[in-house]
Amino acid sequence: MTALIPRPRMQLAPGAVHVPGWLGVEQQRELVAACRGWASGPVPIRHTRLPRGGVMSVQTVCIGWHWQPYRYTRTAGDVNGSRVAPFPEWLAELGRRALVEAYEDPAAGVGYAPDTALINFYDGRATMGMHQDKDERSGAPVVSLSIGDTCVFRFGNTENRNRPYTDVELASGDLFVFGGPSRFAYHGVPRVLPGTGDPATGLASGRLNLTMRVTGLPG
Ligand code: SIN
Ligand code: MN
Repeated sequence: MTALIPRPRMQLAPGAVHVPGWLGVEQQRELVAACRGWASGPVPIRHTRLPRGGVMSVQTVCIGWHWQPYRYTRTAGDVNGSRVAPFPEWLAELGRRALVEAYEDPAAGVGYAPDTALINFYDGRATMGMHQDKDERSGAPVVSLSIGDTCVFRFGNTENRNRPYTDVELASGDLFVFGGPSRFAYHGVPRVLPGTGDPATGLASGRLNLTMRVTGLPG
């Protein structure tokens, strides 16, 4: 949807860039369709169990490598034991184009080879606490794509989960990249704004977020 008030691209911190409306509706539809496929198997989407017994409010499915707190494996021992779906080359290519766009540098995507993606689905009540993406053994950037309902995305500092942080709204089609000095910044999703998405993406309700990463793990 075209914003009534234009949303400019913004660098929140060195290496952390928000590009509103990067994906068109057709690309979002294709991503939603791909995510629907991955959500159905070989490892179905589920609420990740936490070591202390709770469950995450978001539902997650992974491709390439399976993430569970706090490691990556090829098979989903905490779900059904199956090997996760492969990470497709078209998604890696999209990741390289995302870096070129975010960093406004034609060379920014060279050599970027993401090998895992976490796909999170948020219903209207789901949130994600402040955390670092630090189970990867690589400092390569994280590329984040959002579809569906707008959320408040909180992007903080690399020291702790508290202030200073900046809240930005991530809407459908938005790109967010965090790399370089911001790669290990704390971030989270304090709230989703139900009913703000465009059903033309194929997502009638809720929010989909896909983050691609480089695990740095061998083959
Ligand atoms: C994440 O931190 O893994 C997800 C962030 C988001 O949903 O925007
Ligand atoms: Mn994260």
